[in-house]
Amino acid sequence: MATQDLELSGYDAIEYLVGNAHQAAHYYRTALGFRLVGYAGPETGVADRASYVLEQGTIRLVLSAGLTPDHPAVRHQARHGDAIRDVAFRVPDAATAYELATSRGARGVQAPQVLEDDHGQLVVAAIATYGDTIHSLVQRDGYRGVHRPGYVPMEDDPRMAGLPPVGLTGVDHVVANVRLGELSVWSAFYERIFGLRELRHFDDGAISTEYTALRSTVLWDGRGRVKLPINEPAVGLRRSQIEEFLDANDGPGVQHLALATDDIVATVRALTARGVRFLQVPDTYYDEAFDRVGVVEESWEDLARLGVLVDRDEEGYLLQLFTQPVQDRPTVFYEIIQRQGARGFGVGNFRSLFEAIERAQSARGNL
Ligand code: FE2
Repeated sequence: MATQDLELSGYDAIEYLVGNAHQAAHYYRTALGFRLVGYAGPETGVADRASYVLEQGTIRLVLSAGLTPDHPAVRHQARHGDAIRDVAFRVPDAATAYELATSRGARGVQAPQVLEDDHGQLVVAAIATYGDTIHSLVQRDGYRGVHRPGYVPMEDDPRMAGLPPVGLTGVDHVVANVRLGELSVWSAFYERIFGLRELRHFDDGAISTEYTALRSTVLWDGRGRVKLPINEPAVGLRRSQIEEFLDANDGPGVQHLALATDDIVATVRALTARGVRFLQVPDTYYDEAFDRVGVVEESWEDLARLGVLVDRDEEGYLLQLFTQPVQDRPTVFYEIIQRQGARGFGVGNFRSLFEAIERAQSARGNL
C-alpha cells in the first residue's frame, strides 16, 4: 500500500485537558522549566475555556481546562484525570492528510478547517486514536501568531529566569498504553493510517519482573521525527503497571512523553533543584550497569548521584531517567533521555525500572 504520501513532519503540540490549567501551567514552568508563550481564555474572547501555551526547545505543550460544568474538557478530566487529549502532528497538507487517514479507516473527529487571523492562516483537522486520544493534523506554513488564532502572546514572569535552566530540546517519543489484546490492533492502525513501521518489538520475555509483564511495539516513520511505542499488559503474578494505568485513566491513553536533552546531567540537576521527583533505582544498579555498559563520556559518579540510568545497544548508548507521575492519579509521567548514538529504548534498564515502579505501585496499594 502506498503510504509515503501521508507525511508527518513531526509533533506540533501536545494538549492536556486538566482540572486547573492555571496551576498546572505554574508546575510546568517552575518544576519542568517550560516558558509561557501564549494564552486563550475569557480575556481573549474564549468564554468557556482557559488554555496556556508553554514551550521549551521544540516542545510545545498546551494546558487547557473547561470553565463550565458540562464542557467536554471538564467531562474528559472527570473521567481520565489530568490527561493528554491530543498528540498533534504537523503535516504539509492537512486536508489531504485527513482525506487519506479517513479513507484508510481512521475515524474523523474534525474535518479540515481553515483558521485565520492577522498573523496568517493554518489548516487543522483531527482523527481519533486509542481511548479518547486524538491526533490533530496541523498545517501551519506561514502562520506567524502564537499557536492558533484565538491565542495572545504572553511574556513569562521575569522571576522564572532566576531558576536553573533545564535545557529540554524536543520530544523523543510518545508512549501509549492500550488494553490486553489491542497491541496488534493499534500497531496495525499506525502502519495503515500513517505508513509507520515497526522499529522494535519487546515480548513479555524481555519485559518482565517477578510480578508483572508487558509487551511493547515501537512504531516510527523511518526518519526519527515520530516514534510511538505502544504497550499492552501481559499476564503476570500481580497487576502490571499497565493495568494500574488503564484503571486509573479509565482506558487507554498516553503513558509517558520522553523529552530529549543534550546534557542529561545538567538537566536532571536543574529538575531536581526545581523539585521534580524521579523514580529511584537501588545503588546496586550502578555496579551492574557499569559492567553492562562500560565507558561513557559522563562521570559514573554524577550519574549515580543523580540516579540516571544507562543502556547500550549496537549503535551507541543512551542515558535516561523517569519521573514519578505528575498528577494524583498514577498515569502520565516523563522520561528524560539523552541519546549518544543509541536508537533503542533502554531495554537493559527495564527490569530495574519496573522494580522501582512496582515499589511505587505497592505503596499505592495497587500491586
Ligand atoms: Fe520511553
